[in-house]
Amino acid sequence: MGHITFVEHDGAEHQVDIVEGKSLMQIAMDNGVPGIDADCGGECACGTCHVIIDNSWKRAVGDARDDELRMLEMTPERAESSRLSCQIQISDVMDGMIVHLPEFQM
Ligand code: FES
Repeated sequence: MGHITFVEHDGAEHQVDIVEGKSLMQIAMDNGVPGIDADCGGECACGTCHVIIDNSWKRAVGDARDDELRMLEMTPERAESSRLSCQIQISDVMDGMIVHLPEFQM
């Protein structure tokens, strides 16, 4: 089984097993990774599941849809590789992926 590493703003790391078919937000929440609020439960309507995908893994997660991009525009710590973690479906190709957490959610 593969894993994904979440890195908090202060550098603390959390390694989480890949569960294919779940969202990145779901596996973070299921494993108690701090820093993701996910207030809307994964409906792309709150922006509180913001993460920053490590640049070397941007291709693995694909492109954001327009509704996700609109939500990300409101995110204060937005970076070039920002995504909403509820909109990323986990797959085996993400084994070893690094995901950075912002200091704050909206
Ligand atoms: S959980 Fe609300 S936008 Fe992702």
